[in-house]
Amino acid sequence: MSDSFAGDFGPFGGRVWLNCAHQGPLPRVAAEAAREAVGWKVAPYRLTSERFGGVPRSLRESLARLVGAAADDVILANSASYGLHLMANGLPWKAGDEILLMKGDFPSDILPWLALRDNGVTIRLIEPRRRVVQADELLDHVTGATRLVCLTWVHSFTGLAIDLKALGGICRERGIIFFINASQALGTRPLDVGQVPVDAVTSVGFKWLCGPYGTGFCWIRPEIRATLRYNQAYWLSMLTADDLREAVPEPNPRADLGARKYDVFGTANFFNFVPWKASVDYILEKGVETIRGHNDRLVSRFIDGLDRDRYDLLGPEAGPSRSTLIFVSDKKRGHNESLFRRLSENGIDVALRAGDLRISPHLHNTDDCIRRALSVFNRA
Ligand SMILES: Cc1ncc(COP(=O)(O)O)c(C=O)c1O
Repeated sequence: MSDSFAGDFGPFGGRVWLNCAHQGPLPRVAAEAAREAVGWKVAPYRLTSERFGGVPRSLRESLARLVGAAADDVILANSASYGLHLMANGLPWKAGDEILLMKGDFPSDILPWLALRDNGVTIRLIEPRRRVVQADELLDHVTGATRLVCLTWVHSFTGLAIDLKALGGICRERGIIFFINASQALGTRPLDVGQVPVDAVTSVGFKWLCGPYGTGFCWIRPEIRATLRYNQAYWLSMLTADDLREAVPEPNPRADLGARKYDVFGTANFFNFVPWKASVDYILEKGVETIRGHNDRLVSRFIDGLDRDRYDLLGPEAGPSRSTLIFVSDKKRGHNESLFRRLSENGIDVALRAGDLRISPHLHNTDDCIRRALSVFNRA
C-alpha cells in the first residue's frame, strides 16, 4: 500500500525528493501528456479549435471536482498570487474597511493587500501566539469594520494547519470574507467548499497538485465574485478563433462567462495546462483521502524514527494541525546548515527554511525514502 504510487513517478536519479512544499514531482502520466502537447506545437495543424477550447474546459472541470465546486466558478490562473491580486484589486473597498492578515504568513498573502492602504483601507497583521492564528485570536481582532480575513491553510514556515471550520465560522457569522491560500494543502488534504465556511480559495498547481510551475487556480463564491469590479475582457474568453472566419467580429463584452471572465490570459497554454490536467486527474483517480492516509503514515514514520535526543520536532506530534510539512532542528541550531548539506550529499532533498529543516513527503515517496532520510539524520 505504502509503495503503491511510487512507480507512477520519477525516475529521480537515485535521489529522494522530500521537498514537495517547494515543487511536487510531475507524475509520469502528466509527463507523457506534456510530450503530447509539445507535439501539437511541433506540428501546429494539431492545435485544433477543439484543443484550444477543450484544454481549459476540461482542466476547469477537474479542478472543480477537486474542491467540490461548480466548474463555472473556477478561475484558471498561473499562480496563487493571481487569485490574491484579483480579490485585492477587484473587491469594492471603501475607506475605513479593514483586512486581517497574519504576521509571518507567506509573502504572497500579504503583499497584494498593502497598496489598498492608499484607498484608506486598514491592513492589520495578527501576531499569533502559537505561530498561526487561533480562533480566540481572530475573535480578539475582528471589528465591525473587518471585511476580509486572508490566511494560509497550511503555513509554509511552520507546517501548522489552521482550523478552517472555526476561523471560517467566525467570519461567516459576521459576514466577513474568509479567503484561504491552499497552496500547501490541496492534493494532500481534502477540501469541499460546500462543506467548510470558506468564501474564496487560491492555490498553486505545482506543489501538492504535482503540476508544472506557472499553474494555479482560484475559486470565489459566486455572490462575492459578482461584486468584483475588475476590468478584464480577454478576447479569447469572449470569442473563439473560429469567430474570425467569416467577418471581422463586433467585439462586445459577454456577460455570461461566469468565473472564466477572470481567467489568466492564454488559457490554452498547452505546455502547462495539458500536463497539469493529467496530474490533477491522477490525484483525483487515486483519491485525496487515500493520498492523505499515505502521506500521514510517512510523516508519522519520520517523526517516530527521528533521534529526539539530537533533534527537536518543531511542529505537533499528531492531531489536526499536523500537516505534510515537518519542521525539525538540530538541538544545536547552528548545525542545521551543515546537516542540510550532508543530506544533499547523500541524495536526500529537503528544504532549509528560516534556519530550520523542512521535510515534505508526498505520494511518490515510500517507507524506504523515509528510512534513507532518517539514516542520514540519525548518523550525522
Ligand atoms: C503558501 C504559499 N503560497 C504561495 C506560494 C507561491 O505562490 P505563487 O504561485 O503566487 O508564486 C508558495 C510557495 O511558493 C506558498 O508556500
